[in-house]
Amino acid sequence: MDLESLLARAAKARNAAYAPYSGFRVGAALLAEDGTVHTGSNVENASFGLTTCAERIAVFAAVHAGQRTFSAVAVSTEGPHPVAPCGACRQVLAEFAPDIRVVSEANGERREWLLNELLPDPFREIPGRSGT
Ligand code: THU
Repeated sequence: MDLESLLARAAKARNAAYAPYSGFRVGAALLAEDGTVHTGSNVENASFGLTTCAERIAVFAAVHAGQRTFSAVAVSTEGPHPVAPCGACRQVLAEFAPDIRVVSEANGERREWLLNELLPDPFREIPGRSGT
C-alpha cells in the first residue's frame, strides 16, 4: 500500500476520535508486514492524563490482531500543520518497528521522518536481564 492510501485510512480513522477536552482529533494508520492496516484515534478522558494517542491505539490494535512487524505509520490531524508523534508513542512504535517510516498530514501539508530520527536511542531492555 502506498503512503497516500495509508494517509487516507488515517484521515478516516480520525472520525472516531474522542477528543472533547483538547478538541484536537487525531487518526493513525499502521501498515503491517502482511499488508493489513490497523487504525487508531485518540481517546481522551476527564482525568486528562489517562488520554491515549491515536498512534498507540493503532499499535495495540495491530499487536492484538497478531501483527508485530510494521513498515509505515500515517498520522492525520486537523490543521494548521502536521505533527510528529509524541515521545510516548515513539517509544511504543520503537518496540516493534524502530526504523518505521512516519508520515503526518494536516491541512494538505505533509511531513515525513524515519522513527530512528525522531527517537534515536529508544529504551530497549532492562540492563542485565536476559530472556524475552
Ligand atoms: N495526540 C495524538 O493522538 N497523537 C499525537 O501524535 C499527538 C497528540 C492527542 C492526545 C490528545 O488527545 C490530543 O492529541 C492533544 O494532545
